[in-house]
Amino acid sequence: MEPLKWTDKLAIGHSIIDDHHQKLLELINGVLSQKPGAPVIIGTLIELIDYTRYHFLEEEKIMLNVGYPEINAHRKSHEKLTAEVIKIYNNYIENALSISNEQLFKFLSRWLIDHIFNKDHLIKPYL
Ligand SMILES: [Fe+2]
Repeated sequence: MEPLKWTDKLAIGHSIIDDHHQKLLELINGVLSQKPGAPVIIGTLIELIDYTRYHFLEEEKIMLNVGYPEINAHRKSHEKLTAEVIKIYNNYIENALSISNEQLFKFLSRWLIDHIFNKDHLIKPYL
């Protein structure tokens, strides 16, 4: 399975947000190169959760600063995404070997990329 690659299509044109998204992408790619159930994957998931929380707060500050009108709906989407990644973490630590790295990678890739394309790109005109 190919790792995620950063492209201009993913960029929303704000250097902080784009940097954060690239970091998230790297963390997700980190899952692919490990053995299933390896402690390093658990560490990566913890880092992903921590970094996601930080990123969402920073992104919400930026939305607030630019007066993005859909901030409340966007915040709700962040809450949902945070809950989803915590759930996958819990599933993973409870039953790591039943989830392949590819399944985990596929889930996390969609989790990130769909949000960037469907939600974060809507902020673009306000930046
Ligand atoms: Fe977002």
